[in-house]
Amino acid sequence: MTIGIILAAGSGIRFGTDIPKQFVKINNRRILDFSVHTFDSNPLIDEVIIVVNRNWGNIISKEYSNFKIVSGGETRKDSSFAGLITCNSGTNKVLIHDSARPFVDHSIIENCIKALDNNSAVTTAIPVNDTIIQIQDDNIIEMPNRSILRAEQTPQGFDYQTIMKAHKQFRGDATDDIRLVMELGITPKFITGSPKNFKITTLEDLNRAKLILGKKN
Ligand code: C5P
Repeated sequence: MTIGIILAAGSGIRFGTDIPKQFVKINNRRILDFSVHTFDSNPLIDEVIIVVNRNWGNIISKEYSNFKIVSGGETRKDSSFAGLITCNSGTNKVLIHDSARPFVDHSIIENCIKALDNNSAVTTAIPVNDTIIQIQDDNIIEMPNRSILRAEQTPQGFDYQTIMKAHKQFRGDATDDIRLVMELGITPKFITGSPKNFKITTLEDLNRAKLILGKKN
């Protein structure tokens, strides 16, 4: 079985709205609805689990009565683990996706799942257009060659047993799940994502999403 876990338990409120960004509505649809719908309509995904914070559990459970809704945790890692432990025993592949990336598409999902035939961990990533510099205080201390850099996106896909083991062994916090399997000594694969699969973080990102969806404000 292949499970999609949509992480929507963050409390990020950076738009001056009073609700977390993934629950903001564009054209009367919550931001999380776009990725939930794409995963749910993909024939390679058997079940979608939505992870939300406790305050939103009742509302989202009502709106998504056919889905498994799980309470997330303090950190992204806690939330992905909360989703992982509710996967049923027949799960062999799992894709973990940020609900704040509404424009994930079917080809990204399918490429991730296919990559898991021969790899136990895969992330989505895109080339970087800017030159990236490493800094310390006011100084540049490293300028990595841009051609070997990528910006990570989600979904991130895993062999289920591998990601469970990684979560159980890892101590500390991590901004994503790939970090956890790397600590096991695994070299994850990457597949190419899309600039459209950006994460909504700022008001500018929200406005970009509205433009893509044909809404002016
Ligand atoms: O904060 P950031 O944008 O990096 O979060 C990435 C994703 O992880 C978001 O979709 C957010 O809702 C989710 N998240 C979560 N539980 C947390 C923190 C973040 O599900 N405690």
